[in-house]
Amino acid sequence: KKMQKKILPCNILTRNPSWSLLKNHYEKIKQISIKNHFDNDSKRLDFTSFDWGDFYVDISKNKIDRKGFELLIDLATESGLAQAINAQFSGEIINYTENRAVLHTALRSLKKDPILVGGKDIIPEIYSAQKKMFAFCDQVISGDWKGYTGKSISHIVNIGIGGSDLGPAMVVEALAYYQNHLEIRFISNVEGDHHVEVLKGLNPETTLFVIVSKTFTTLETISNARSIREWFLSKVPEHAITKHFVAVSTNLEKTEAFGIDPENIFPMNDWVGGRFSLWSTVGLSICLAVGPNHFKKLLHGAGKMDLHFKQTPFKKNIPVVLALLSIWYNNLYGAESEAIIPYTQYLRSLPAYLQQGIMESNGKYVGRDGKPLAYQTGTIIWGASGTNAQHAFFQLIHQGTKLIPADFIGFKRSLNGNKDHQNKLLANFIAQTEALMTGKSEAQVMAELKNSSLAEKHQKDLAPFKIFLGDKPTNTILIEQLNPENLGALIALYEHKIFVQGVIWNINSYDQWGVELGKQLASKILSDIEGKERNLHDPSTLKLLSKI
Ligand code: F6P
Repeated sequence: KKMQKKILPCNILTRNPSWSLLKNHYEKIKQISIKNHFDNDSKRLDFTSFDWGDFYVDISKNKIDRKGFELLIDLATESGLAQAINAQFSGEIINYTENRAVLHTALRSLKKDPILVGGKDIIPEIYSAQKKMFAFCDQVISGDWKGYTGKSISHIVNIGIGGSDLGPAMVVEALAYYQNHLEIRFISNVEGDHHVEVLKGLNPETTLFVIVSKTFTTLETISNARSIREWFLSKVPEHAITKHFVAVSTNLEKTEAFGIDPENIFPMNDWVGGRFSLWSTVGLSICLAVGPNHFKKLLHGAGKMDLHFKQTPFKKNIPVVLALLSIWYNNLYGAESEAIIPYTQYLRSLPAYLQQGIMESNGKYVGRDGKPLAYQTGTIIWGASGTNAQHAFFQLIHQGTKLIPADFIGFKRSLNGNKDHQNKLLANFIAQTEALMTGKSEAQVMAELKNSSLAEKHQKDLAPFKIFLGDKPTNTILIEQLNPENLGALIALYEHKIFVQGVIWNINSYDQWGVELGKQLASKILSDIEGKERNLHDPSTLKLLSKI
């Protein structure tokens, strides 16, 4: 078999004509503060704020001026981004190292136009998989789907890992306000204690297990699924499996071999990457939790963001602009990480979800031609919900030595309508980005200390510790309210940001060979631990093995 030819051309970031202009411009303006950029350009908000549906995005608090912004847009144009977007959406095999198209966008396409993969229109199969999923969810939610003793289902357990866990778990948590009576639990880790904890208190008669694995070969998921089946069969007769185990996979042979009734298999396709798969049948737990109508709205919101991404000129294109700013900090300022701070507890798992999306996609050191790249790629993503994060790691963002661009995501209206709490939340949301930008000068600190009870001779000694240098960049994404449609759009926004960065960095964002070596070695070391083999290892590894 031959390796698929690459579709997106090799286009080294630093060889784009705009790159040297951008670099020169960066050298010129790198010392200028964000506050000064505001002073120098009274119309700054004109090119740094975007109204789109329920979204208001403000990128004005960044260390960049109008000229720098324009050069970034030129970089996107020269990188062949427009062609790349077109290639992705039309189903070309852009994930050429795995010989796959990348079509999670087809799952939420607002248009019914055919999308061809290998000459075949995939839209009908998307609809038929959705139809099957929606009908099943309706049955379970209404109580018509009965367990083997005739009782309705009350608990769902999603067994999966990576994209088969993080997306569904994050969205179920995010949409808790919209959730029905079903309780959804997630088992991902191969650690036996994890599944024992998750199974605690479950009644097999009223529990439905959803095994989610695109490949159906993932060690963690298959081990957990096997142990759970054993647990189940230790309590109930074998024929009960049909009513209590369903699977989502591309691997129909392996799912059937596992003993899943073919009727209970929800197919997915290899043109959907694991970390982009919550829109597919992988989202079954989401659909069970909130019902098909809310699930459709999630898809609809993402579909609207897809159209925005496809149709909007780069300078007004939110995912493109956010991707370019990230490149600006990563490749010019040398920033190593980015923080994502959603100001709602509902989105507390968004940073962990985006860690897989962003770091599994763009943590690559070779370009599309297979040659090592001489510049930095993928950013390190971390974060937590505000305001909790303010009382945990914000000290380092405000006064540490590292530059950490941060995305602040907030919602204008709370879901439960508590105005008092919402005002306090939003006050913090906005105050933080202002504080990060403006900082606090020595003069301000001294003026405050003069009014304090601290002895005058100590005021000067304390002052340096209370100074904030400010000039810390942030993006603000302010959204009307947390609903399925807006959540869909927000997730799709980050998906497209990932792709834009991959295109400009000249990498393939859609494979993940970097996870394979650990899997291979784990299976070898398992043989050592089980005493089946005695493999050669380095001294450190041998000593560790002797300690187990
Ligand atoms: O090992 C990484 C990975 O392949 C992810 O990309 C994927 O989301 C996860 O494992 C789970 O894979 P599967 O759905 O095939 O079990």
